[in-house]
Amino acid sequence: MTTHKIAVIAGDGIGQEVVPAALECLERIARLHSLDLQFTHFDWGSDYYLRHGRMMPEDGLEQLARHEAIFLGAVGSPQVSDAESLWGLLIPIRREFQQYINVRPVKTLDGVKSPLASKEPIDILIVRENNEGEYSEIGGRIYRGQPHESAVQETIFTRLGVSRAAHYAASQASSRGRRLTSATKSNGIIHTMPFWDEIVEEAVRLYPEVTLTSELVDALAAHLVLKPWTYDVIVASNLLGDILSDLGSAVTGSIGVAPSANLNPEGDFPSLFEPVHGSAPDIAGMGLANPVGQMWSGAMMLEHLGHPEAASHLQTAFESVLREGLGTRDVGGTSSTSEFTAAVLATIDAID
Ligand code: NAI
Ligand code: MG
Repeated sequence: MTTHKIAVIAGDGIGQEVVPAALECLERIARLHSLDLQFTHFDWGSDYYLRHGRMMPEDGLEQLARHEAIFLGAVGSPQVSDAESLWGLLIPIRREFQQYINVRPVKTLDGVKSPLASKEPIDILIVRENNEGEYSEIGGRIYRGQPHESAVQETIFTRLGVSRAAHYAASQASSRGRRLTSATKSNGIIHTMPFWDEIVEEAVRLYPEVTLTSELVDALAAHLVLKPWTYDVIVASNLLGDILSDLGSAVTGSIGVAPSANLNPEGDFPSLFEPVHGSAPDIAGMGLANPVGQMWSGAMMLEHLGHPEAASHLQTAFESVLREGLGTRDVGGTSSTSEFTAAVLATIDAID
């Protein structure tokens, strides 16, 4: 039996609903595939912050480092500033554990209605640079409250950071549709974006089978709405990738089904798996949360841990429940989180 130690942070809001739902499925899958998934639960997040003044303990990263993977719900609460919740937990984990690749699949699922009129299937892999770019700590704010108050924030692109994102994206494209689109804005952002373009081009040259297109992000955003089925893999900087992936998930039907993986490809540190959505305080505690994004993130975690069959068992189960017409309110259904989860558990057993 293969053992994996997994750190679980359910976090805030609907994280407390979708994480237990996905864990039930992972436990069932583990039993059927002879895996020993050892989950350690951490009660970190905004409630922890309100009690202790921090999102996680001082040695939080050391505690997490003892695990092979991290399974996260969401963090964020109306009672804690978003800067505090993001920079006190998620961003330190992504940075310190060198999770420099953020993979966000954008795919139509049968049963999840897209707001687009066209029924062409969408299957895009968004690769977002996850450690640098626009999300930098370099900058400052002066003359607070005065008429000449000002704020500066620097974008940081490094040769290493851009080229490893481009390599990862190109190798994914190579095993999929062999088309890679790089999101850029080198017409307006005249230092960092031409640098991004140059390094992406240089990296992708090593993959002659992959066709690279650079597309200005404003046009790319429009095309993602008008003809999303024409894209295969998209590589983007931290901020642009974040925006494009929310757009992508909206175009496929609901942010509630979108998964993501924050990867340290070398395996020197644990990787983190979480849905794209946040803590959704507007529906928290109401049993309305769609657990598919969390379940799909669980399937990506199984894949990453080296268990593709277990991953596809879980994936097939929730996809077939959706196909049968069951779903939570965000995808036009009437199931509660727990009703939907029960149906997935039954399907996991049925297709064993
Ligand atoms: P959000 O993703 O939490 O919610 C956006 C909208 O989508 C809401 O109307 C919500 O009800 C709906 N929604 C989201 N997930 C859903 C699901 N699984 N099922 C059904 N409906 C779903 O984004 P929002 O409102 O901008 O942020 C709320 C909080 O979450 C903020 O504090 C924000 O900072 C935090 N956040 C945390 C993230 C993380 O932990 N990685 C990512 C994004 C936001
Ligand atoms: Mg986002």
